Amino acid sequence: MATPAELAQLHTDLKPDELEHLQRLLGSWSVLADLAFSDLLLLVPVAASSEGAAPHAPHLVVLGQMRPNNRPTLIEQDLVGQTVSEADWNLSAETLRTGGYRHGTIFHPALGENVPVENVPVRFGGRVIAVLMRMALIPQRGPTSLYERTYLDVYERLAAMVAESAFPFPDEDVGTEESPRVGDGFVVVDEEGRVEFASPNAINAFHRMGVYSPPEGRRFTELGVEESAIEWALATGRPVVEEVERRPDVAVLVHCVPLISHGSVTGAMILLRDVTDVRRLDRLLLSKDAAIREVHHRVKNNLQTISSLLSLQARRLDVGAAREALYEAERRVRSIALVHEILSRDPGDQVPFDEIVASLVQMARDSVVSNRPVEIDVAGDLGEVTADVATPLAVTLAELLQNAVEHAFVEDGAGADSPGEEVGHVRVTLGVRDGELDVEVVDDGCGLPERFDLEESTSLGLSIVRGLVESQLHGSITMGTANSGKGTRVSLSVPATRPKN
Ligand SMILES: Nc1ncnc2c1ncn2[C@@H]1O[C@H](COP(=O)(O)OP(=O)(O)O)[C@@H](O)[C@H]1O
Ligand SMILES: [Mg+2]
Repeated sequence: MATPAELAQLHTDLKPDELEHLQRLLGSWSVLADLAFSDLLLLVPVAASSEGAAPHAPHLVVLGQMRPNNRPTLIEQDLVGQTVSEADWNLSAETLRTGGYRHGTIFHPALGENVPVENVPVRFGGRVIAVLMRMALIPQRGPTSLYERTYLDVYERLAAMVAESAFPFPDEDVGTEESPRVGDGFVVVDEEGRVEFASPNAINAFHRMGVYSPPEGRRFTELGVEESAIEWALATGRPVVEEVERRPDVAVLVHCVPLISHGSVTGAMILLRDVTDVRRLDRLLLSKDAAIREVHHRVKNNLQTISSLLSLQARRLDVGAAREALYEAERRVRSIALVHEILSRDPGDQVPFDEIVASLVQMARDSVVSNRPVEIDVAGDLGEVTADVATPLAVTLAELLQNAVEHAFVEDGAGADSPGEEVGHVRVTLGVRDGELDVEVVDDGCGLPERFDLEESTSLGLSIVRGLVESQLHGSITMGTANSGKGTRVSLSVPATRPKN
């Protein structure tokens, strides 16, 4: 489905700030629909030049549609993105042209009768840029209860603000999931902050805050509820959201919207929402996050224990293959522990891979075997990598670095004529391209043995590498002579996200 921004782009010549104003309206107009017990449509003229323009008559496009939460909808269909001719919607077209309200009826094909509509001009920067159309059966019958009269009255005050370009408010966070809705609890105060009306759910919210006296005619402070937010909203004419915490565990979100007429504040609409349960869930989620981190921490500790056990055992063996094998196993376990170490610090399952690379490089430096000094440097970055990719990738990179420091610079007596040439270089290059992670390890050492073939090699290190890259990470790896003609180049490329298997 097209977003309002896409629709506006396709059909209209709204300027960016005009579109932003309408998007704010769309973000906050569910309150209007509820207060009016009505379906709302936002209509914008189709630009004569636009791709979606009809060839002849001027048209309007429906940029948004909102249904009331407290009444059945009159418009079952999704009208967003549809264009209608101005001739058919002549009242809306008149509002656009004249900038005045237009009341009337339009024929509703599904209901088979005429339904009342009201067209409100949406002004911005002194210009009428859209029409807010309200469709409802209510006005014909007339409001019956005090609560309906109050809702409709506040709707009318807000609609007048829309026409005066006082609503939506500039730079307010609109439409956040948490913003209270009319049904959550609705209070109207006069310009001095005295309660004129409180809905039954608002009374419940007051009860949760420990307020049992009837609120009508009193200010929030007289009721024992902090009212600085309301005072501020009435004084500045700006909306404000505040969370009131009461007694252990009770949290009520207070959203105060000043009602403005011809530039002066005439009162405010206050939406109250009991968010106690939401906050409790938030705390649970937080502690779940902490629990996951704790688990990673323990996994890391256990892996470190395993790695120490292996190294203890290695030290007891005589120099030889068995001892080397234990040391290698110890290193592999340590490279996995690194990933868990980072996951135990940062929440989420993404790890900044450069931190892992830095530790792996340090590990490789510590295990340089030849007498030649070896310099290892890193270029580029993989950014954040998901944990299930990071672990096998870390083990792979550890093997490749280990091979470089272990095999590339072995003492063969040849080639080292000047001391300057003695330093061996290893370069790790990292990059991300089209969802692929590219890793390259190049050294300027002695190069691979003759007739070396990665596919044929049965030695453990490279078998592990091939298994991880090809089977686990679903990537590819090549090994060959470095571009310089001297030394070895290993490049591998793996998808940044691991398919579920
Ligand atoms: N960077 C390198 N430079 C030279 N030779 C290498 C390099 N990487 C791997 N090799 C060769 O490939 C062989 C297989 O490596 P590997 O499977 O890791 O086993 P291991 O490291 O235990 O010998 C090595 O023994 C070595 O001969
Ligand atoms: Mg090896």
